Amino acid sequence: MNTVLTSSPQEAAGYINQGGLVAFPTETVYGLGADITSEDALTGIFKAKGRPSDNPLIVHISSPARIGEVAATVTPEAETLMEIFFPGPLTLILPRQPWISDLVTAGRSTVGVRCPGNALTREFLSCCTHPVAAPSANISGRPSSTDWHAVQHDLQGKIDCILKGSSSAIGLESTIVDCSSPVPTLLRQGAVSLETLRDVLPSIQASTRHTPGKTPRSPGQKYPHYAPRAQVVLIDTDATKTAAVPENTAYIGMGKAPEGFRKTLQCPDLDTYAHSLFRFFRECDHEGISTIYCQRPPSSGIGRALHDRIERAAEPR
Ligand code: TXA
Ligand code: MG
Repeated sequence: MNTVLTSSPQEAAGYINQGGLVAFPTETVYGLGADITSEDALTGIFKAKGRPSDNPLIVHISSPARIGEVAATVTPEAETLMEIFFPGPLTLILPRQPWISDLVTAGRSTVGVRCPGNALTREFLSCCTHPVAAPSANISGRPSSTDWHAVQHDLQGKIDCILKGSSSAIGLESTIVDCSSPVPTLLRQGAVSLETLRDVLPSIQASTRHTPGKTPRSPGQKYPHYAPRAQVVLIDTDATKTAAVPENTAYIGMGKAPEGFRKTLQCPDLDTYAHSLFRFFRECDHEGISTIYCQRPPSSGIGRALHDRIERAAEPR
């Protein structure tokens, strides 16, 4: 398949409206989209990514007002969150409209909905006839794509079109809050932090990490994620000061890189660390790095999301 590269949101939306697959930029990470009413296109997403079929997709809407097309009920907690954080890097889990394909929800009674903040993304979505289901635009299990080059690397020849935008400003996937039950629960950390959510919804719970054998609230929690080919190791920079650094290794963090690494990236702040992580993982794979040392970020703001991603990337495979 020839993958068209375009900067035109209208042209990209045309492919969605014809039942095609289109990768598009958002402020979190790039998404791989399909029309939610096209069963063939939805099936195509799972094929192109190699994604397990029991992992549901997030539905993207062009404006908060369209939420009723996807969700059957908008709970008061969800209303509050939407008022403050939509459009933006937040996904809400809500009771689904009955007509939504089981391919989107993986047969669940709920659906994930997000209204991205990026202007180009919303223009693209507003040219699509129906809301757009989209997981991150990467091969399943790999780091998410935060620029169109990464999308090309993973999906060139497997999808119809890539909408070229700037690199994703945040660089980590959206925060997910389950509002389908009486106590709202944070399912995935993101740029909208737990502290910020607590200010608005003091009753919010943070979901515990997935225990193997138990049914996870978010199916994505049970799959390996965000992993480069290189091994990922979490460190405190001070701990490596005296130890010898093994050959062919890389370092990313906010502290000054200890001596001896082949490739290093010292980030001036947490936002830059979050924004650069997945691109750095991909560069390391390209350069044949065997181990990536990631400095543990502070557990505040987006640091929690960053910590979650590097911990998941470091899980034994
Ligand atoms: O920032 C983002 O959220 C990006 C951009 C493209 O919007 N999308 C993204 O999609 O990260 P994906 O598929 O890589 O991650 C979606 C996560 C998965 O862990 C999935 O299990 C969970 O959302 N999810 C989707 N629908 C759900 C539902 N109804 N109930 C629980 N979890 C759900
Ligand atoms: Mg993903």
